Amino acid sequence: MNVKLVNQSLNHIEADLTLEFVTSEQLKSHRFAQLLAQAGFKAESDQICALHEHRLLVCAVADLRCETMRTAAALAVKSAMGYAYASLKVAQYQTENFAPLIEGIVLGSYRFDGYKSDPKPSSLCDVFFSNENFDGSMLEHAALEAILEQTLIIAKATNYVRDLVNQTPDDMTPLGMASTAESLALYNNLECTVLDVSGLEAERMNAMIGVGRASAHPPRLIHLAYKPKNPKKVISLVGKGLTYDSGGLSLKPATSMVTMKMDKAGACAVIGMLKAISELKLDIEVHGFVGAVENMIGGNAYKPDDVLKAKNGKTIEVRNTDAEGRLVLADVLGYAQEKVKADYIFDYATLTGACMVALGPYTTGVMGHNETLKQDFVTAGAEAGEYCGILPFNRHLKKLIKSDIADVCNVSSKPYGGAITAALFLDNFIDEDMKDKWVHFDIAGSAYTESAWDVHTHGGTGAGVRMTLNWLMSNCK
Ligand code: BES
Ligand code: ZN
Ligand code: ZN
Repeated sequence: MNVKLVNQSLNHIEADLTLEFVTSEQLKSHRFAQLLAQAGFKAESDQICALHEHRLLVCAVADLRCETMRTAAALAVKSAMGYAYASLKVAQYQTENFAPLIEGIVLGSYRFDGYKSDPKPSSLCDVFFSNENFDGSMLEHAALEAILEQTLIIAKATNYVRDLVNQTPDDMTPLGMASTAESLALYNNLECTVLDVSGLEAERMNAMIGVGRASAHPPRLIHLAYKPKNPKKVISLVGKGLTYDSGGLSLKPATSMVTMKMDKAGACAVIGMLKAISELKLDIEVHGFVGAVENMIGGNAYKPDDVLKAKNGKTIEVRNTDAEGRLVLADVLGYAQEKVKADYIFDYATLTGACMVALGPYTTGVMGHNETLKQDFVTAGAEAGEYCGILPFNRHLKKLIKSDIADVCNVSSKPYGGAITAALFLDNFIDEDMKDKWVHFDIAGSAYTESAWDVHTHGGTGAGVRMTLNWLMSNCK
């Protein structure tokens, strides 16, 4: 889908279809009020009505808030894609709604048909935005142009993340993920280092090696770096990249195993963020660290009762091989902190089903020691169209992951608060000087969906990308 800004009033733009957003208040005085009423259009939220004889698509909105407009634009573009029109034009709805509208269009028109033998492409190719506001005034073109450029980079990077997540475990293996990162590095002028198993052994990353031991696709550690001259800040992003999580010997039940290709979503988000950051040419040095591993069963699989020694020297009692993400992250967090002295370190992981129990399916769990930092992310997420909720630590919960035989246990002794105890496990692998500079994002509920919601269709959502880019752009100036 091409999205363009045209420096002309809406009437002067040539397009097959016009998209208009209408509140119930505006409906009363609408030029086609009667026709719309006949068609049963009452301007109820999410209602869409096509007046084909007027080449007009009307989409109801409850108000002109960013969140409303983003969702409405996604619904409208999906509807427009169902017809045979090739182009669509839209006015502005105040400058602050331009980015949400673009996001709605780009994210809402996303389709993944990589595995269809006969995909049916939509005929809709072009979306033209006028710089004319809905009330007839003209908005400043240069400001809109800058918003368009930035928003397109972020929305397209989100779709790129979705594409990666949606690939099957056999296509996106740890090696496949490393090749993806290498080709991104080539195109976007990033540094890229990949460690294979012998590299991981040399780095003493035995927790990560343990998780990947029974797979026919050996693990890879990927380090992508974007290094502008004189950066304002240095940031490390760490991603859980389980290209498949069968649960290992603590095997998942059949129905829980379906969708576990999405267990690489944190890693994909990190790779996508490096893509966007380099294209936005941000003045921040950003390092992406990804642990790409497949958790499988086999004669040489790691097992409950094993004790693994992580890179930072701590020993981990394994009581459940399905709590594998935290083992991989333990080593990758250790590696990231040893290689780069960052101002902040953030990790992204589809870490626990418990996070979904706590916050529901759409919300990212935000955890860490720095209250201001966590709150800033909740705000950045809300602005960017992502839901986040803080899950609080306390010293009592910490005791639940004590081990009788090793330094720490990979599962909690109690069945509740699993998202927090998983984060407290990770805390064992955060260096003392980084405690206040670390945030953990559990994207188990937000990274993947099996039914369309908001701007998302079936599959990967790109969770973490828009929220983090918004935070970076407002906090690293
Ligand atoms: N990848 C899963 C978490 C998950 C579950 C993500 C559902 C998305 C949807 C993770 O590796 C896992 O299996 N966690 C276990 C931990 C438990 C064994 C302590 C879980 O959540 O059940
Ligand atoms: Zn698991
Ligand atoms: Zn997992």
